[in-house]
Amino acid sequence: MAEQNPTSPVRPAFQLELQDLDLVDNALATQNKETTPVHSLEIGTRPTPFGAGGPIRLASQASTPPRSVVGIGGKVAKPDYSEAKIVLAMVGLPARGKSYLSNKLMRYLQWLEYDVKVFNVGQLRRSRAKQKKEQSGVKEDHTASYFSHNNVEATRLRDALAEDSLEMLINWLKAGGNVGIHDATNSTRARRAKIEARVAKEKGIVVIFLESVCDDPAIIAANVALKVSSGDPDYKDTSPEDAKRDFIRRIKEYEAVYETITEPHLSYLRITNVGNQATACRIHGYLQSRIAFYLMNLHLKPRSIFFSRHGESQFNVEGKIGGDSPLSERGLRYASALPDLIKDNIGDAPLTVWTSTLQRTIQTGQHLSYTKLTWKSLDELDAGVCDGMTYEEIEQAYPEDFANRDEDKFNYRYRGGESYRDVVIRLEPVIMELERQDNILIIGHQAILRCLYAYFHNLPQADLPYIKIPLHTVIKLTPKAYGCDEERYTLPIGAVDTHRPKPKAPQPEVKAYSGREYYDGNA
Ligand code: SIN
Repeated sequence: MAEQNPTSPVRPAFQLELQDLDLVDNALATQNKETTPVHSLEIGTRPTPFGAGGPIRLASQASTPPRSVVGIGGKVAKPDYSEAKIVLAMVGLPARGKSYLSNKLMRYLQWLEYDVKVFNVGQLRRSRAKQKKEQSGVKEDHTASYFSHNNVEATRLRDALAEDSLEMLINWLKAGGNVGIHDATNSTRARRAKIEARVAKEKGIVVIFLESVCDDPAIIAANVALKVSSGDPDYKDTSPEDAKRDFIRRIKEYEAVYETITEPHLSYLRITNVGNQATACRIHGYLQSRIAFYLMNLHLKPRSIFFSRHGESQFNVEGKIGGDSPLSERGLRYASALPDLIKDNIGDAPLTVWTSTLQRTIQTGQHLSYTKLTWKSLDELDAGVCDGMTYEEIEQAYPEDFANRDEDKFNYRYRGGESYRDVVIRLEPVIMELERQDNILIIGHQAILRCLYAYFHNLPQADLPYIKIPLHTVIKLTPKAYGCDEERYTLPIGAVDTHRPKPKAPQPEVKAYSGREYYDGNA
């Protein structure tokens, strides 16, 4: 997959001109509007096995565990990722989605428990300039001319900032980090050669470059619009009109010297128009391959992901966990009401329904006229010997297990069953497929939906097992550039509350934030 090495710089295929400001205006106007695809529905009534699918258990198989089984459910240790040390250096013009890719990748790898940090050179620049202003009263000019390669002094300063940021990143990796993302333009061969030479001095650390190429004027315009409308500190005191002009001029300064990656010896990935095309060169080993695979599956098409737990089940009513019981009478009413709720929400847009292999999820989806797939990976957290018991019974039969679970619910593994950590690992293919898909409705289980929800909202592990996912409620997540918007629809059909709050602790606050977060650099 290596490419030739042309001698002259290769210019990006699409360059945004000042007259393209109209595109940016259109993107700004439509940024928050939902688009409604107009494809017809695909009708399917029988679930199709999919992914890590397996046989569907139709009858309840919940067993009563032998009371003679006593003991403490184990705690699962974090996987040992200490050998994984990667500098992931971004490459690309401004407004080509580098920060978007950096943040998505960080969220995915953190969810898999890698230690990942983004080192954003623009934020370091702003924080250093702020310090300088506070100390000397001198305000640096960061308008487009600062980014011109003809501006010798500014070019020296920008190179120094990129190098300082790389030093911080390497020190952070040496202190235990796994993947440090150098979020900068790194748009010339000379800059990349410097990064390569610096990383080569560190034993056990490797560098891969990730180039984000974009020649779709609509995507570039949307990115420019996002920059000028998202509270970017570079344009804090500037009108949107002036900000647009200046940012487009800045892009042109970078375009004048941009060299796409053609160095045949480098390890690199090139992603074109996020998800349209991917090139991988010298990508080795498990983690690098996972990164490549994940990035290849991303897309920017507007879509929504719907989560619903199954309708209330007979085990829910009896306060029992696990099992494979059918729906209660109220659960069946929820299943009957669900199609209208979904239809009201997405109209005629295409949708695929994913269920687990357990009958309560399949029954919940029975009246939905969309393609349905069952995933074994979506089955509820396996409660092992406690499957089919009430919490009171568990507390009585396994008091130490019960206390251990309360102390560290994410890591606690049921005897003969699973922990939340195990479930996160089992859900990885589901996340990968969700990133690739369009509109999806997942009819799932409490623990499963907590794990998926935590991924989309980037919630910490300790809070994950306490996220509220009530019965008879549809949660709609709409991915945005830097997170997800969320809406919840609760149907007026009563159901038991299966949420067990964290003992002696406040319910964690869930921040549904989809804006870009600007912070004061990485220092
Ligand atoms: C910036 O200062 O905003 C970006 C610096 C760069 O990577 O070129």
